[in-house]
Amino acid sequence: MVNAAKTLSTATTAAKPFVKWVGGKRQLLPELVKRVPSDFGRYYEPFVGGGALFFHLQPQRACLTDINPDLVNLYAVIRDKVGELIEDLRQHVYEKTYFYQLRGADRTPNYQSWTDVQKASRFIYLNKTCYNGLYRVNSKGQFNAPFGRYTNPTILDVDNLYSCHHALRKAVIEEADFYAVRRRIRANDFVYFDPPYAPLSTTASFTGYTKGGFDTDMQYALRDLCRTLDNRSVRFMLSNSSAPLILDLYAEFNIDFVYATRAINSKAGKRGKIPEVVVTNYEY
Ligand SMILES: C[S@@+](CC[C@H](N)C(=O)[O-])C[C@H]1O[C@@H](n2cnc3c(N)ncnc32)[C@H](O)[C@@H]1O
Repeated sequence: MVNAAKTLSTATTAAKPFVKWVGGKRQLLPELVKRVPSDFGRYYEPFVGGGALFFHLQPQRACLTDINPDLVNLYAVIRDKVGELIEDLRQHVYEKTYFYQLRGADRTPNYQSWTDVQKASRFIYLNKTCYNGLYRVNSKGQFNAPFGRYTNPTILDVDNLYSCHHALRKAVIEEADFYAVRRRIRANDFVYFDPPYAPLSTTASFTGYTKGGFDTDMQYALRDLCRTLDNRSVRFMLSNSSAPLILDLYAEFNIDFVYATRAINSKAGKRGKIPEVVVTNYEY
């Protein structure tokens, strides 16, 4: 296991995720932040999603990757063309017919010629106005989450977009599978893994985490990657569910149980505090 240095990094401008994201880590932030070593080379987040921890820490040098190309495009546009994005966002209205019209754009051949800014603007609009901020596409990669009911959803948050732009201005942003991190990362770097969680129960209809393509084999591959990084003196922190599979896979590392309020099954109203785990390969 690797030794961790003990001072805390501080962010300069407050920034929060610019999208709502399933599995977003804002609730668990205090538990994560207190485990982050303050002194490290480069920060890596290979399942960046909404990037809650990244925006909180705002490390000087960061490499953010995700397998979702639409999300990665949005990050790159906020880093490189935030002014254009803000102008484009001004046209959107929260209205059901407009929502379905814009949602349907990726079903037309014309969509190929849309600019990266137009695509990013559409992504933010759909994320803020669709049901639960759900990112869902069909087998052809076409967005298909339904319209959501909100009172005055904030589609354009200029201040936060600029804060995110500021946090991202030196970051490397790429579309990549999590495994690609092993080629870049060096001793003394720090990586935070927040993969799709392993299901707590494998009974009933839930026979494997194939939604998002993250099945048991991938949980094994991620653990093997953690072993490789540990051998190379890279510090890692990983969050996951407290499923028996996860406790078993990471038994050789530090496993802490932490609590967040989440929907514990699909029945409305069934919410409660359920344990999740934070795994580290260093003492903090
Ligand atoms: C639990 S979310 C991350 C949430 C994030 N930490 C936050 O605060 O919003 C998991 C992310 O992993 C991405 N993902 C799924 N499979 C992946 C893979 N094989 N490689 C890289 N990213 C993947 C998804 O696109 C999703 O954005």
